[in-house]
Amino acid sequence: MLFRLMGRRLRTGLRLLARDRFGLEIARIPEKRADVWYYEMNEKLTRRFLHFESVLRVLEDVDGCIVECGVGPGRSIFAFAIISQYLTRPRDIIGFDTFEGIPPPTAADGVENAHKTGWWRHSVDNVGDLLKHNGLAESFIAEKVSFVPGLFEDTLPSYDSAPIALLHLDVDFYESYKTALRELWPHVAPGGIVAFDEYGKSVWPGATRAVDEFFCEHEESPVKSDVADYYYVVKRREV
Ligand SMILES: C[S@@+](CC[C@H](N)C(=O)[O-])C[C@H]1O[C@@H](n2cnc3c(N)ncnc32)[C@H](O)[C@@H]1O
Repeated sequence: MLFRLMGRRLRTGLRLLARDRFGLEIARIPEKRADVWYYEMNEKLTRRFLHFESVLRVLEDVDGCIVECGVGPGRSIFAFAIISQYLTRPRDIIGFDTFEGIPPPTAADGVENAHKTGWWRHSVDNVGDLLKHNGLAESFIAEKVSFVPGLFEDTLPSYDSAPIALLHLDVDFYESYKTALRELWPHVAPGGIVAFDEYGKSVWPGATRAVDEFFCEHEESPVKSDVADYYYVVKRREV
């Protein structure tokens, strides 16, 4: 406590010195809050960020929004927001989730995932707060980010927003992948991309099986990212 107080006094003193002596205004760094999940930029998530950036750059000539199925605490939504705000074109971002935790897996997801019902419980308000506390501008969230709560089985069949330029699926389980692909693939714009979080990873047998089953009936097939351990599919452009 004493050291924290001394540290704060020292920072204040240095800020005043910089202002009065050199005319420099140094921004006050907000104190870290114990109740906020600060998103990490570890090796895996940094490479995932680069992967998102590279697919969004490929999509520069494709009109449409970004849709994510599987919002969880909002780390990928945050990455899409930063990339579309600063590195590529601005796009609407729509996130689908129960926002009440993940529904039960089925036998296709393997015994190692059988206990995960209810994981990732983050309400819409909680995700909004996390995006804001991690630094996303409130005006950007209000204008560009929207959430649709509910089970995919109930919400996705009535999707009626813009064509989808990027569909990101981070939904862990077989049935969720099946539903998301069945309902949203028709809304993906020609030249648009569907990116998968779990495809090809042995810990997610249901996700891999659902993607393979879906695309064995289509011309497209998954390709691996150059920068990270993730796969995606590019929808054929109309001829
Ligand atoms: C791994 S988390 C997503 C993590 C997030 N993309 C991130 O980067 O922080 C998976 C999410 O998918 C959601 N989900 C999975 N199946 C669903 C379904 N059938 N209906 C609605 N939400 C579902 C869960 O509620 C959970 O929040």
